[in-house]
Amino acid sequence: MVFMKPEIIPAILVQLREDLFDRIRKVKPYVDTVQIDIMDGMFVPNNTIGVKHLRGLPEGVKYELHWMVLNPERWIEKVHGDYLHIVHVETIDSLDDVQKIVKKNGGRLGIAINPGTQFEKVLPYLKKVDYVLVMTVNPGFSGQKYIKGMEERVREIRKKFKDIDIEVDGGLDKKTAYSAAAAGANKIVAASSIFKAFSIGKAVKELQESAEKGCKTWAKKSSG
Ligand code: DX5
Repeated sequence: MVFMKPEIIPAILVQLREDLFDRIRKVKPYVDTVQIDIMDGMFVPNNTIGVKHLRGLPEGVKYELHWMVLNPERWIEKVHGDYLHIVHVETIDSLDDVQKIVKKNGGRLGIAINPGTQFEKVLPYLKKVDYVLVMTVNPGFSGQKYIKGMEERVREIRKKFKDIDIEVDGGLDKKTAYSAAAAGANKIVAASSIFKAFSIGKAVKELQESAEKGCKTWAKKSSG
């Protein structure tokens, strides 16, 4: 199997627009993509910035919107532009309905699954989207501990879907980024290990190196 170059994606979990812009400014020199967490205090026990704060985001970087909200289609229909919208399998009845709204608004769709959700629930969707987020913490807060058991899901998905983008999110640092990539993940989302670092640039670079080592391990293992 070919080595997939992994991508490090900083996660921004904030309540204020100025913090959102400040964090985007800090990471923009080092990454291509930023993930913005949006939480409604119902699907997850925390609140963050809302749709109105997403206006006029800085150019020069791509955005993933991680919708940790009930009825994500009601939020997404207010957001136009080339975003990757990641919705939770636990919050949707019909992927087609969400897909229609995302497409109409010029975005792309990804699907996420929480650690406590039965893994089989996400599989039917993976034929319809090319991006899956395997949560490695129970969502709501940054700084939580990585749940290593979720790597089994990453391995399973990578076995079934060679070309899908598999993202992991929650507790990712140099050590766990290697481990997740060695299981088959190619998108590594991190908040604390980037924003709490003394040097953001150095933190991103070290995560990238670890993830690349992990991807090489995966490629070696999967080529038999
Ligand atoms: C779930 C959020 C994660 C979180 C990651 O709580 O979706 O993106 O902010 O934070 P770290 O990387 O600190 O675990």
